[in-house]
Amino acid sequence: MSSKAIYVQPGGGYQNVQVGTWEAAAPQAGEITVRLHASSLNYHDFAVVSGMWGPSERRIPMADGAGEVIAVGAGVSEFKVGDAVVSTFFPDWLDGQALVEGFASVPGDGIDGYAREQVTARATAFTLAPKGYSHAEAATLTTAGLTAWRALMGDDHLKPGDSVLVQGTGGVSIFALQFAKLAGATVIATSSSEAKLERLKALGADHVINYRSTPAWGEKVRELTDNRGVDHVIEVGGPATLEQSMIAARIGGHVSLIGILTGVAGQLPLVQALVRQIRLQGVLVGSRAQQQAMVRAIDANGLRPVVDKHFELEQIVEAFQYQESNRHFGKICLTY
Ligand SMILES: NC(=O)c1ccc[n+]([C@@H]2O[C@H](COP(=O)([O-])OP(=O)(O)OC[C@H]3O[C@@H](n4cnc5c(N)ncnc54)[C@H](OP(=O)(O)O)[C@@H]3O)[C@@H](O)[C@H]2O)c1
Repeated sequence: MSSKAIYVQPGGGYQNVQVGTWEAAAPQAGEITVRLHASSLNYHDFAVVSGMWGPSERRIPMADGAGEVIAVGAGVSEFKVGDAVVSTFFPDWLDGQALVEGFASVPGDGIDGYAREQVTARATAFTLAPKGYSHAEAATLTTAGLTAWRALMGDDHLKPGDSVLVQGTGGVSIFALQFAKLAGATVIATSSSEAKLERLKALGADHVINYRSTPAWGEKVRELTDNRGVDHVIEVGGPATLEQSMIAARIGGHVSLIGILTGVAGQLPLVQALVRQIRLQGVLVGSRAQQQAMVRAIDANGLRPVVDKHFELEQIVEAFQYQESNRHFGKICLTY
């Protein structure tokens, strides 16, 4: 069963990305073979492929994978041939409290990922995809979708009437906006682009702020919430945005520390966190059970991900260069 695969040589870097072949083994007990048809791009995959956090050995990149089951090993009752499935970010974190530190077991980083046409893996490394989704839509759920879901519904328990701040128009933030609206929350969304702010409104954002022209956007969020602040902040900026995020949060509010778009270290405004009794929660995607809960919610509500652009598997470098340009709104996908 020889099929196409993308390889990144040790250290990464766009010049070290090659198209090759991969032979998927027949499934053993507890395993399934999936004909993968799509992946989606995340900042973490960009870090691996571009060489920012390049792999220590030759690696098939991409954490997100979606496709169709083409063979089932002995003892697998959860899936049958023909099922549409989507991969999980942590093949070993099935349920319960967070128990994985870092990326050693994550497909596309510590182990081979899904930039390939076929894979044989433990059945528990996949879940069913939402009904009626294209493979590309399903692929957006593994990393970006589940991160937003877990932040709002797992670590905190979003309720109708709560308020949520989302930053920028990348994959995680757009999903957070959509899940928050699904739950009946008020959403305040930021972007650096006036055109994207209009698209955020069309997606249901109740208030929008341009974070470039309004650098003190935390104060603006307070103004928009009668000086109370929001219940939840989806914090994807990192060091350059955390202080404003804490200003934007209500006393005792929940700030999900998700992203590092402005860097990996900075000054922590400790007094702000302390006097406002902010709950700062580090987030690393989520468990398989949380992914299944998210798929159930999507099936019940018909939510569709926002896919900005599709690229072919061989255009993976071009796709990452497009992501780097920040022109996208929502997700960028590879289809194959
Ligand atoms: N911890 C986890 O489990 C987890 C999971 C997924 C992603 N992440 C992290 O979350 C971050 C976002 O990921 P993503 O996949 O959604 O990225 P993405 O799709 O590449 O999002 C990029 C967008 O973020 C916005 N942005 C950039 N700088 C910003 C700033 N200073 N303030 C506010 N928004 C800013 C921009 O929106 P505008 O163009 O609208 O300004 C940009 O288009 C990354 O750092 C990624 O590593 C973490």
